[in-house]
Amino acid sequence: MISFEGYDAVIKKVYQSGNEHVFKFWDDLTIDEKKHLLQELSLINFDEINELYALTKKHIIPMEFEPAPFTRLPQTLEEHKEFEYAKQVGIDTIKKGKVAAFVVAGGQGSRLGFDGPKGIFPIGPVSNKTLFQIHAEKIKAYEKKFGIDIPWCIMTSESNHQATVDYFEKHNFFTLNKDKVFIFKQNMIPSLDEQGKLILETPYSIFRNPDGHGGSLTALYTSGTLNKLLTMGIEVLSYFQVDNPLVRIIDPVFIGFHVTHNAEVSSKALQKAYPEEKIGVFVKFSNGRIGVVEYSDLPQEKQYEKDEQGNLRYGAGSIAIHLFNTHFIEKIAQGNISLPFHVAKKSIPQYTNNGKHTITGYKFEKFVFDALPLTEHNFILETKREEEFAPVKNKSGVDSVDTAQELMIHLYKKWLLQKNIPVPKVVEKIEISPLYAVEPDDLPDSIAIPLQKEVYLA
Ligand code: UD1
Repeated sequence: MISFEGYDAVIKKVYQSGNEHVFKFWDDLTIDEKKHLLQELSLINFDEINELYALTKKHIIPMEFEPAPFTRLPQTLEEHKEFEYAKQVGIDTIKKGKVAAFVVAGGQGSRLGFDGPKGIFPIGPVSNKTLFQIHAEKIKAYEKKFGIDIPWCIMTSESNHQATVDYFEKHNFFTLNKDKVFIFKQNMIPSLDEQGKLILETPYSIFRNPDGHGGSLTALYTSGTLNKLLTMGIEVLSYFQVDNPLVRIIDPVFIGFHVTHNAEVSSKALQKAYPEEKIGVFVKFSNGRIGVVEYSDLPQEKQYEKDEQGNLRYGAGSIAIHLFNTHFIEKIAQGNISLPFHVAKKSIPQYTNNGKHTITGYKFEKFVFDALPLTEHNFILETKREEEFAPVKNKSGVDSVDTAQELMIHLYKKWLLQKNIPVPKVVEKIEISPLYAVEPDDLPDSIAIPLQKEVYLA
């Protein structure tokens, strides 16, 4: 057994758990490297590791479920009145300074073939603005509209935290009040090989992956961000994913319904475009609780099941837009209620005598929508796909840069059309800066759109 002053207990635990292979390169390490490895190991909870590995052997039989009820888009006069009322409540809540924004941005742009935080990916079809800049400018626009500061929480992960902070600093936080932009890291969790053992990433570090966006609720708490929000009187946290440039970050109607329903978590839903679409679906479990079943977990027969009208029975898709009550997050975090881990079999680079080799192993992640079944009160609101959802997941094909940019252009044209502002035929691409209009109502009554192929209204 190796030894190192001050770390005897850690070393013992590593041997007891059968992970002594992590010391394979021990004799070649410098003192600092040895310390680094032992420090990482001291943070590992080996009981948890055993539980995680046990998960990979378990055949989880999902609880029975049926489609979840949701509030559809308004059709009747009565429903329009309800929406109007919700909007007023929402505006009032926002103006009282009770709402903050929260983006999960722990992912890298690797699926996009982009080396860096996904938020730094340029997506503006004409402006080339990054996802982060578009989100920041939307928040700026809402601040102006409602006459208040809107705090913004940004969750990063170990691999992209510094690059994200540097980016915001370089761009002066896009003129947002930097004291109200909270950038914090999510936690990491070790991945395991097929035998349930730790994996060396380098001779002196363990391979770990971010613990999923479900880790965001704990990270908000442990980073001290939640406490700051509560001190500021924030009651509602508007949660969204960094990869959706169309997200309506501050939506008065949604916020109003959340408040009037006394919801701990509210979510937006849209009709799935096709059965295989890679979005989770809202369900009601047999114990009466509401939740989301991820696309990969939805049994195939349910994926294609139709209702009497010929629509997908499990058609209410989750686009990862939620509102969280800050006291609910506090209750979860303080009560040490952990969201469940999900297992994914993935290729993982392992450090060996001959350099790095890819092995098959297990990564573990928490999903934020697993908080839904923990709620007493929740609310699901239908929304229009073309107005709120343009996921940027892939380099090409479905949910790609091209499809997201097309959706953005399509929406901006629709806004102008709603205002009876004609878009000349010669215009192929048009983009509207959030600082010019964050909602169609913000557009002036008349705009002389220049006769050119690409137009940016800013
Ligand atoms: C996700 C949802 C899916 C939803 C779809 C909508 C999951 C498991 N699935 O799918 O139900 O319909 O988006 O676009 O979430 N992230 C972190 N830390 C992590 C992991 C992810 O911050 O540890 C962030 C990413 O930066 C990104 C978001 O979470 O903003 C989504 O991650 P991604 O891996 O793209 O999820 P999808 O599988 O596409």
